[in-house]
Amino acid sequence: MTQPVNVTVTGAAGQIGYALLFRIASGQMLGPDTPVKLRLLEIPQGVKAAEGTAMELDDCAFPLLAGIDIFDDPTAGFDGANVALLVGARPRGAGMERSDLLEANGGIFGPQGAAINAGAADDVRVLVVGNPANTNALIASAHAPDVPADRFTAMTRLDHNRALSQLAQKTQTPVSDIANLTIWGNHSATQYPDIFHATLAGKPAAEVVDDQDWLENTFIPTVAKRGAAIIDARGASSAASAANAAVDHVHDWVAGTPDTSWTSAAIPSDGSYGVPEGIISSFPVRSKGGAWEIVQGLDINDFSRQKIDASVNELVEERDAVKGLGLL
Ligand code: NAD
Ligand code: LMR
Repeated sequence: MTQPVNVTVTGAAGQIGYALLFRIASGQMLGPDTPVKLRLLEIPQGVKAAEGTAMELDDCAFPLLAGIDIFDDPTAGFDGANVALLVGARPRGAGMERSDLLEANGGIFGPQGAAINAGAADDVRVLVVGNPANTNALIASAHAPDVPADRFTAMTRLDHNRALSQLAQKTQTPVSDIANLTIWGNHSATQYPDIFHATLAGKPAAEVVDDQDWLENTFIPTVAKRGAAIIDARGASSAASAANAAVDHVHDWVAGTPDTSWTSAAIPSDGSYGVPEGIISSFPVRSKGGAWEIVQGLDINDFSRQKIDASVNELVEERDAVKGLGLL
């Protein structure tokens, strides 16, 4: 029998937590042969609701669910964690940008990084979902000096999936025929969904689309502002699609990506594509041997260069802002 994998989920009683935990327990994240032990971390006011979710998880009788524990102390919650999903944070409301959450949420991620440093398993992999996700991941990593920096990632898979879907609808192509789309930069309105290396059933996507106006004035803003559109429509931020993207991110990180296509994830920059080293930026990535690698050697045209630089500059500003707040 394979040893269970310890998965810590923060914000377990929140909207995303509710959509995420059942997917993890069913085996969709780590595969049908991997038992999981769930460690739910909440603030004290969230513990009772987390207990209710745990009762429902029990009631599903998932064969792969080897146990559920609930914590309100980060050190205990991350003890032995192999996978840590940092979801717990305040979502933005209508009219806010994700960066408006820097101060409110930034304070959560330093102590959680320190708790991961203190007691997580040697192979811990961290995905930050709570916004502003890239900079929160940077804060967590800075407080975990003994954990390799490349284990701290932030989620842009939801943006990637949104871009796939928009491109599929525009070109009437099945999502499964689209390869090599990229989200660059920040999980914010400056992010750059790049179709210049993407293919649709093997044909260059930019040639098939052949519509710069749609690209600039419809596709890019629709993807980049989709989170706000959902808040407007639902009165609450995306939850099921965010949980789905978290499952996709961790699944691909652990199981590896096919050679036929890459995906997008925000990972610490090694200086590739002119992105300052250490910034947690979204890149085209593949996972090999359980580690993300940035896809190298892509030609970046002038249009893409400008867009990537704008988003990366925002990340640099966010980093400097949290430094100024004493969070880094
Ligand atoms: P929510 O308000 O429904 O749930 C958040 C939960 O986190 C609450 O139960 C709260 O008690 C808990 N929490 C707060 N501080 C905590 C802490 N220090 N430790 C543990 N738990 C804590 O929010 P939600 O809709 O689930 O969204 C969570 C976060 O995810 C938000 O910041 C949101 O903006 C972000 N988000 C990111 C993406 C992405 O693509 N990266 C997508 C959707 C949402
Ligand atoms: C999203 O992209 O849906 C989330 O980051 C929530 C938000 O604030 O947009």
